[in-house]
Amino acid sequence: MATRRQPGSADTDAVDWGRGMACIDNQFVPIGEARIPILDWGFLHSDATYDVAHVWRGAFFRLEDHLDRFLQNVERLRMTLPVDRAGVRRILMECVRRSGLQNAYVEMICTRGVPPRGSRDPRQARNRFYAFAIPFIWIAGPDQWEQGLHVSVSSVIRIPPGAVDPTVKNYHWLDFVRGLFDAYARGCETTVLVDGRGNVVEGPGFNVFAMHEGRLVTPDQGMLRGITRQTAIEIADEFHLPWEARALPVEQFRHASEAFVTSTAGGVIPVTRIDGRALGDGREGPVTRRIRHRYWDLHGDPRYATPAANPRSRPAPRKAVSEAGASDGDLR
Ligand SMILES: Cc1ncc(COP(=O)(O)O)c(C=O)c1O
Repeated sequence: MATRRQPGSADTDAVDWGRGMACIDNQFVPIGEARIPILDWGFLHSDATYDVAHVWRGAFFRLEDHLDRFLQNVERLRMTLPVDRAGVRRILMECVRRSGLQNAYVEMICTRGVPPRGSRDPRQARNRFYAFAIPFIWIAGPDQWEQGLHVSVSSVIRIPPGAVDPTVKNYHWLDFVRGLFDAYARGCETTVLVDGRGNVVEGPGFNVFAMHEGRLVTPDQGMLRGITRQTAIEIADEFHLPWEARALPVEQFRHASEAFVTSTAGGVIPVTRIDGRALGDGREGPVTRRIRHRYWDLHGDPRYATPAANPRSRPAPRKAVSEAGASDGDLR
């Protein structure tokens, strides 16, 4: 996969995140220097929620939708952000501006914070806000679209909604990580997890779609309500494509005529093989291609695009083989 390093080569201190910029306690720092307090329960207990927006060619995509989801989730975890919505927006913009990135992955995080000494009571912790902008991350980039992803259906159950609400974007990823290692062992590139009742739910950082009997099907329970998923649904409406949000049985996913996954980290990404078996002719399907093209076209639509730059921004080359790791000049 485009962004995956060779196994075993990760020396995290040496990872070059380029021009990334973070905001910690209202201070802007280069991403390589960003540090969080080790006693923050966001780190120690995964007691946190986050959201990831992206900037493409200098504009945020659906920024207000990401802010809506983030602020709702902060409230649902009974946290209080130390900044208001305008403050979050301003900090995200500033991280992007200071980074100079034209294509960026922009994360906002609210953690429970550090409790008073000796306390085990989450109500006593002062919640914290962190943010960063780093070069755009692809689950699978343009060079992989034609070939598509090889996905494994995991036997691992996604943490059930009765335990952790998956609509609150969270860092409970041990199930995904387990699924990923199983997938690699089977020669696959990524995984989708199941709900324990025979349905596919979601994968590490993405939602799932399958074409079944001429209808587009996407799960409606046990997963994050992805903003890219929502965009794909809106595109399906625009194209008068029939779609259903309902349970997606593993067998329907396996025998789909085509399938794709959706994520802020790469948009609409074709799935062409499931556990070694090709879907259709083993290439990106026509419906997936239409939705993918439209998804990227919408990045220029003022209904969705919010300029991240302002006149003080550092100029960044528009067509360079960008910090995104692929040319942003050709997304078709
Ligand atoms: C578990 C999970 N599901 C789905 C998604 C896709 O959501 P979005 O389209 O809002 O990026 C993500 C994004 O990171 C995720 O973490």
